[in-house]
Amino acid sequence: MSQAQQETGARQAPTEEELTRAGLRLSVEGAVARITIARPERRNAMTGRTWTTMAHIGQTLPGDVRIVVISGEGDIFSAGIDLNMFTPEGVDGERSIIDGLAEGTTDDAELDAYIAELQEGFRWLRRPDLVTIAAVRGHAIGAGFQLALSCDLRILADDARFCMKEPALGLVPDLTGTKPLVDIVGVHRAVEICLTARKVGAEESREIGLATLVVGVDELDGAVDDAIAGLLAVNADAAVATKALLQQAADNTLEEQCAAERKAQAGRLTAMVKAMTAGS
Ligand code: CAA
Repeated sequence: MSQAQQETGARQAPTEEELTRAGLRLSVEGAVARITIARPERRNAMTGRTWTTMAHIGQTLPGDVRIVVISGEGDIFSAGIDLNMFTPEGVDGERSIIDGLAEGTTDDAELDAYIAELQEGFRWLRRPDLVTIAAVRGHAIGAGFQLALSCDLRILADDARFCMKEPALGLVPDLTGTKPLVDIVGVHRAVEICLTARKVGAEESREIGLATLVVGVDELDGAVDDAIAGLLAVNADAAVATKALLQQAADNTLEEQCAAERKAQAGRLTAMVKAMTAGS
């Protein structure tokens, strides 16, 4: 914990033990944070603790981090939610999702709050001060697909396969993935992908805009590093302002978006002039 964090009582980053229990690894080097989903014995299946810890990572990232890369250990991104979450036993001390419902002790408001808490593990990946990259090898199923959809860029190995499995299990995708899916592929294609729960391969993902880039398996790490280098070459403050602008474009009218562009540009020009004057 930095001295500033100690003084302000700000929350500390998750400990190694907390990360391990959540099936995650985290490394932060300068402007780049890398999160690895690391439960290879469960095909990188994720639990509630994985997502609350992801939210914790987001809340405690050092302020100079600009890029977050998410990948899975080994040859798979993630098999989605750990299906033991739906059994009475739950997973490793975590309460089963269905327990409280079966016992009649969980009401609608509690369930809503519980899911909202899990969604926080995905929501922060949209933050305008970060560019988030999903580096996907192999399967990204259910929650794994939704995690990749929460990122700004999806760089895929050619063995990547997306699958929105939830409807096949009697559920809906509820981990923030439906909006980006529809934004990217449109409602008709999204209906087809979700309601058939079929696998969408890397080539098709590129054709329909789900993949930013598709490369050979051995080229994935290099492609991610190239993307990071390109992103870091851009002015950091302009990057934040531009992402914020792009994020509101779809919901704004042209008038509103023009006004937002003017306001953001005024901020950039003012900052540029200030920097020039300070340097002269
Ligand atoms: N949860 C818990 N354990 C899982 C798991 C999961 N999602 N996926 C795989 N595993 C376990 C298997 O049970 C197996 O354990 P054992 O060795 O103890 O038998 C081990 O991981 C290896 O699995 P496989 O032998 O099946 O590995 P594979 O390489 O042949 O297949 C796979 C990989 C295609 C991912 C396949 O395991 C699979 O289809 N898994 C289930 C995927 C799934 O349905 N996920 C839930 C989607 S819904 C969601 O995520 C969101 C939601 O809210 C509901």
